[in-house]
Amino acid sequence: MTFQILTFCGSLRAASSNRALLRAVERLAPEGISVHAYEGIASLPHFAPDLDHDALLPPRARELRDQVAAADGLVFAVPEYMHSLPGSFKNALDWMVGCPRFPGKPVALAHVSARHAFAPAQLEEVLGTMAARIVPEAGFNLGLTTNTLDMETICTHPGHRSAITAALEAFRTAMRPGPQ
Ligand SMILES: Cc1cc2nc3c(=O)[nH]c(=O)nc-3n(C[C@H](O)[C@H](O)[C@H](O)COP(=O)(O)O)c2cc1C
Repeated sequence: MTFQILTFCGSLRAASSNRALLRAVERLAPEGISVHAYEGIASLPHFAPDLDHDALLPPRARELRDQVAAADGLVFAVPEYMHSLPGSFKNALDWMVGCPRFPGKPVALAHVSARHAFAPAQLEEVLGTMAARIVPEAGFNLGLTTNTLDMETICTHPGHRSAITAALEAFRTAMRPGPQ
């Protein structure tokens, strides 16, 4: 059985360190775990409850929900903006709420920065409200103070590499069907 993981980068910056981290997760995924990035955050329309009905749902939002529904687990890597979550990323979460397969979905939180004092807890609060199943042992923090980071650097750093592979193994266990 191959588990399908869908990743979400909360930054739209071209040289995003969070995206580099998620690419490293993709690169280091062991056999039996397939990792794909959701790339649609920038093209989602603003969430509007009036559009949140089957007949009016924007195609991009439907596509997001379909991808989330098909995934066995989700990984989020999100920076902090003004002590909070980036607006474009929060918009994606707002659209995800209407995905009937979101509640109970295993979620891992991957962090680059040691500096974010507010957004990580806010993200957990929001995901908890959405009834995600956050898997603490599948989360990790590289604990860095830089945002100049590329995938190769992460993959070749022994500590980062082992943190990612250990987290993926823990996530595999959490994604297995049946009682946890
Ligand atoms: C508009 C803006 C606001 C930010 N506010 C915060 C903040 O409140 N706290 C913090 O620790 N970093 C803050 N940062 C720094 C970013 O979180 C940091 O550069 C992060 O690494 C960006 O992620 P990325 O490398 O994936 O783009 C802010 C950056 C920007 C552009």
